[in-house]
Amino acid sequence: MSKGNSPIRADFVVVANRLPVDLERMEDGTQRWRHSPGGLVTALEPFLRARRGAWVGWPGIADFEVEPFADDDLQLYPVPLSAEEFAEYYEGFSNATLWPLYHDVVVAPEFHRGWWNSYRRVNRRFAEAAAEVSAEGATVWVQDYQLQLVPAMLRELRPDLRIGFFLHIPFPPVELFMQLPWRTEIVRGLLGADLVGFHRPGGAQNFLWLARRLAGFEPSRGQVGVRSRPGVVQVGDRTVRVGAFPISIASAEMDKLARTKEIQKRAKEIRAEMGNPSRIMLGVDRLDYTKGIDVRLRAMHELLDEGQIQADDVKLIQIATPSRERIEHYKQMREDIERAVGRINGEFGRVGHPPVHYQHHSVDKKELVAFYAAADAMIVTPVRDGMNLVCKEYVACRPDLGGALVLSEFAGAAAELTSAFLVNPHNLDGVKDAMLAALNIDEAEGRRRMRALRRQVLTHDVDRWARSFLEALGTPLAD
Ligand code: ADP
Ligand code: G6P
Repeated sequence: MSKGNSPIRADFVVVANRLPVDLERMEDGTQRWRHSPGGLVTALEPFLRARRGAWVGWPGIADFEVEPFADDDLQLYPVPLSAEEFAEYYEGFSNATLWPLYHDVVVAPEFHRGWWNSYRRVNRRFAEAAAEVSAEGATVWVQDYQLQLVPAMLRELRPDLRIGFFLHIPFPPVELFMQLPWRTEIVRGLLGADLVGFHRPGGAQNFLWLARRLAGFEPSRGQVGVRSRPGVVQVGDRTVRVGAFPISIASAEMDKLARTKEIQKRAKEIRAEMGNPSRIMLGVDRLDYTKGIDVRLRAMHELLDEGQIQADDVKLIQIATPSRERIEHYKQMREDIERAVGRINGEFGRVGHPPVHYQHHSVDKKELVAFYAAADAMIVTPVRDGMNLVCKEYVACRPDLGGALVLSEFAGAAAELTSAFLVNPHNLDGVKDAMLAALNIDEAEGRRRMRALRRQVLTHDVDRWARSFLEALGTPLAD
């Protein structure tokens, strides 16, 4: 990574709360950059690196200024946050107001005027940074719920730009969105873009309804399609398009990695290290209350309790990346999950043979792919998830057509991965049945399902997602 002070003027700019790398302070006072957590970075980074764009974002540490720098061909443009803004804009409005509100109020959102003021202030700073870094007529692609005011603010500063916005989390039902005291400002903020994108047509449809109800515009009435038939809102002399673009992963790259001898060897080692159980279930998530980690632990507990599975035969590996650790609901959920893991291992484990292997840290990409390759059943049970990339990664990592996927109906991915064992995570008996079915699937049926899942994931990769969005934005990519 090299530092450079030359001003950046890029033709293609991504604006996201986080940079793709996070600055981490070590205990000995030194610092290092590491990969940022979450699906947004997973999806966008490979795409943007290949196109040598600029990325405007926060470097991951509060009260800290970093000069713009280059990371290979990617120009990184850091936006600082004070400790107060971290607490009010990031932990507060973004993650204790919008995150739960947009995820079906799975915990109660908090509404505080001070947090909102901070959100507005920080959104302005991101808009100013994007205005500074963008060349004349550039395409600027604003990402996610932390920056919903940026499109309108940026348009005011730089009317020459083409501005896209994509929401990586679900857009809520209108009845829930209407709870937000600042609902009109958010809708107007998003309408500053030329194209507003969601994962699912339902989100786009909800937004179109709100553009009429809250901002008084007359949106088109037709049904929005997937990557087709975007809705249209006429805002003065501007036409804003509103569409659905389900995000994905760099599938071919993961498929290739999963086929290597190194990964195959490591997958076997993982099984051996666990005592070669007959079946391994796997969960991989940010430690977030939307992910339903508690659901799969409860299901496993009951299956063990009822003797439907045996602790020596069936193991669960749960890898949970630490996330938003100072926020109360996250602290509480971590305690609950760790207690549930302890109970299962206490009641059903033997020395050296716990049924649940729980890790509270992230793992590097190769290790992650080896876990996917080793797992007989991938358990993905969010109570609400915009898309969920983990399930797509699992599918991409099974060129052997082995393994089975249990997937919540409430993940955006369920609309595409219809050959998974789809479950309602609120129905524990249904989750247990699906787990048993995935664990006991016969080989031919498993291969049939996995082949269908792979067809979907390999033909709909992140490049296709970005291309379809940018085409609808009117700035198609050259090959
Ligand atoms: P979200 O964006 O809400 O975190 P996604 O499933 O869309 O959920 O994306 C999560 C991304 O983070 C995936 O690329 C996944 O591989 C990665 N990830 C999640 N947990 C871990 C972990 N423990 N170690 C390494 N990567 C992880
Ligand atoms: C989800 C969100 C992203 C966010 C990521 C990690 O993927 O959609 O915007 O960056 O989670 O969360 P964090 O709060 O650590 O950035």
